[in-house]
Amino acid sequence: MTGVAKAVAHSNIALAKYWGKADRARNLTAVPSLSLTLATLRTVTSVRFDSSLPDDEFSLAGALMGGRPLLRVSKLLDNVRAQRGFDTRARVESVNDFPTAAGLASSASGFAALAMAATRAAGLETTPEQVSALARAASASAARSVFGGYVALAARGEHAERVASGEDFPLQMLIAVTAVGPKGTASTDGMTHTQRTSPYYAAWVEAAPALYAEVRRAVETADFDALGPALEHSALAMHASMLAARPALIYFAPATLRVMECVRAFRGRGGRAYFTMDAGPHVKVLVELGAAAELELELGKLEGVTEVLRTGAGPDAYWVDP
Ligand code: PMV
Repeated sequence: MTGVAKAVAHSNIALAKYWGKADRARNLTAVPSLSLTLATLRTVTSVRFDSSLPDDEFSLAGALMGGRPLLRVSKLLDNVRAQRGFDTRARVESVNDFPTAAGLASSASGFAALAMAATRAAGLETTPEQVSALARAASASAARSVFGGYVALAARGEHAERVASGEDFPLQMLIAVTAVGPKGTASTDGMTHTQRTSPYYAAWVEAAPALYAEVRRAVETADFDALGPALEHSALAMHASMLAARPALIYFAPATLRVMECVRAFRGRGGRAYFTMDAGPHVKVLVELGAAAELELELGKLEGVTEVLRTGAGPDAYWVDP
């Protein structure tokens, strides 16, 4: 055991969404999902097991964290410690190198990088599938960030699997960062609330597998015209279930709708671009390579859009020298 390791994992955005748990204790998802791993949004995490530490320590961008974030990190480390049969605490240092700090999901890349670094630091021999399962127990979307390109996680799946590489189906993703309001509901809490109170949750769980199959088929055949409508529908159907929760979960900001409208108008003029959004107000737009620069400019001019990030498909998570 080296005791120390460092890893990089890239964020991912689901094209077929998951929302809801089949098993809350084991963190297994109620529906299948399929995502694209992103090139430019990454988390770098180092883990150092140190017998002089009384407790685990976790810092994010240099700031020492406590409460729920620290508990989630410790829980993953406990899993690793149990597998390895030791009890040593660890110091975890994590940095997101996203061009913007606020409001972009970091749990996917964060827990994938942590699972990579922690297993290596503990001297565990693991397959990518085992690292993915470890990350999934902390945050289901993190299971997908262990792999690059297009990645699927089955309903109740233990680990993710690659469906296609980024080169197989080269597309661009634009992330329109919209004005950040008060912090929204965390995804796990939002899912529980939707499952408990939304009359449309059951309809979402029933509809999601067919949507996933449609997205997967389109990715496997590199068919953008089939993928686009299916990915938009997946995101909006998921949000419909949230909107019908009581009280409603509304992740839309005024600029969120402006971006959607702009993407639809772009299509009306013959452009090929489709949007998706997660548990936050930012909009992610999948667009063909040749049209990305033009749409990026247009989105950047919209009121309430503070920044537009542009990225292609990213790689598998990997280790670097600590
Ligand atoms: O597993 P979490 O807490 O990262 O939730 C992810 C939920 C969505 O981003 C909305 C959808 C998805 O499949 O990534």
